Amino acid sequence: MKIVTQVSDLVSGCAFVPTMGALHSGHQSLFTLAAKKSESVMASIFVNPLQFENPDDLARYPRTPEQDAELAEEAGVTHLWLPLYEDIYPPGFKKLSAGPLGDIYEGASRPGHFDGVVTVVSRLFELVRPQFAIFGEKDFQQLSLIKKIKSDVEIVSAPTVRESDGLALSSRNTRLDAQSRLQATVISRALHAALAADNLASARSVMREVIESESSFTLDYAEIIDEDDFTEATESTLRPRVIISGWLNGVRLIDNMAMRSRAQI
Ligand code: PAF
Repeated sequence: MKIVTQVSDLVSGCAFVPTMGALHSGHQSLFTLAAKKSESVMASIFVNPLQFENPDDLARYPRTPEQDAELAEEAGVTHLWLPLYEDIYPPGFKKLSAGPLGDIYEGASRPGHFDGVVTVVSRLFELVRPQFAIFGEKDFQQLSLIKKIKSDVEIVSAPTVRESDGLALSSRNTRLDAQSRLQATVISRALHAALAADNLASARSVMREVIESESSFTLDYAEIIDEDDFTEATESTLRPRVIISGWLNGVRLIDNMAMRSRAQI
């Protein structure tokens, strides 16, 4: 694996996996998917200050450079790019707006977050010029916004990787203490409860019951949306998706699952 530090050494036409480091098996699955798309697999590690609305969150974001390099190499990354802030944000760079979808759900709780995400991803695409870019479904709203970025890059989505008890893998999970780690399954339990319900009204109600049973979880939102436009799903929605977010002991967790559409039955 080649460590790339110069923009001139980037490999265009590759399969690209942008990350913020603290790599785990979820990222590994993105690298594996990238390796199926191209012989050149480029990963970047850049903790993007523009997408952190809270300076403490940015300061506490886990940074594990040595383990990251090992995991990337083992997972088939051929080029690991460690951009400098100035590579991504030269003087006078233009911050992009994520538009109205950037202001709801995650965006409502994290003002400016998605503007930062679309800005960095557009800039990374401009510099790398990959053929494919792989993103996880776990950050579903992020994935939807990235698909709206105007570029020639083919966006490939990858399924969420979970621990055996259902918790979606996330770099933030390392900040959960032992008790919060056990309580964190409340999200996947609520998602599964919604998926098992007979109709959307009971899905919404069982999901809330599960969430309320875990008093340490502070709910931000739990909703069933039409994944095409993030409006509230109805029984005739073709692609309903349950999205949940909240905090456990100060750690923000998010997750989602696609529901079977009753409109297609
Ligand atoms: O999902 C992430 O890790 C980040 O939001 C991304 C896409 C690498 C942009 O900084």
